Amino acid sequence: MVTVLRGVVALDGPSGTGKTTVARKLAAELGARYLDTGAMYRLVTLAVLREGIDPGDTDAVAALARDVEISVGTSPEEPSVLLNGEDVAEEIRTEPVNRAVSAVSAVPRVRKILVAGQRAIIDRVLAAEGGIVVEGRDIGTVVVPDAPLKVFLTASAEVRAARRSAQDSAAGRAVSAVDARASVERRDRLDSTRATSPLRVADDAVEFDTSELTVEEVIAALSELAGRRGLLNGEVAEARG
Ligand code: DC
Repeated sequence: MVTVLRGVVALDGPSGTGKTTVARKLAAELGARYLDTGAMYRLVTLAVLREGIDPGDTDAVAALARDVEISVGTSPEEPSVLLNGEDVAEEIRTEPVNRAVSAVSAVPRVRKILVAGQRAIIDRVLAAEGGIVVEGRDIGTVVVPDAPLKVFLTASAEVRAARRSAQDSAAGRAVSAVDARASVERRDRLDSTRATSPLRVADDAVEFDTSELTVEEVIAALSELAGRRGLLNGEVAEARG
């Protein structure tokens, strides 16, 4: 018998806490879909940079967010990331995007457009009686405030910077530990202090410090929590594709 998730798991937290790894593995293990909302903000940011628009020009950024064609897939194994049909999964993780994404994601009209897109994707999955693990900064507070399981991941600044730098070198991008830490801390400061939907812990979220935990330990704890909340169903696994 295979376990299947029903409903939404909201996974929020700053960068480098292991959100993406945990979200994808948890979704794969529980036969669920996966949504990377950060990839959507990164896609709009990449479009802004490619168009030569100043990320601080909120009117131009909002207009572009309305017109650009972005698409993110919900497969936890291979989530596609497309900008006007082009695969840009690698490019959205580069340093120019890291530097500009906080400014773009602070624009209220950009958030409005992307949150509507996120809810449409989530609603489609739920209408098919499926489950979805959604990662971001405002999932438990804004996007799905009634999610039956909200998780907020944290980790020390050292650990987060080390993880980011390891990810960058694995992807062939050389970034020193010092630069990685500065980049992570700058982005978290901007994401936590913006006026619209800042990064914060939802009142009913369960917090995990992942500094000392392995991915497997975090996933085991989250699966158990999902089970205790009645979100796991072991009987209809074969029906899911
Ligand atoms: O998770 P990430 O590092 O790929 O996210 C990139 C940026 O997007 C992050 O610095 C802030 C923004 N973001 C956001 O504002 N709201 C979300 N739900 C997800 C990401």
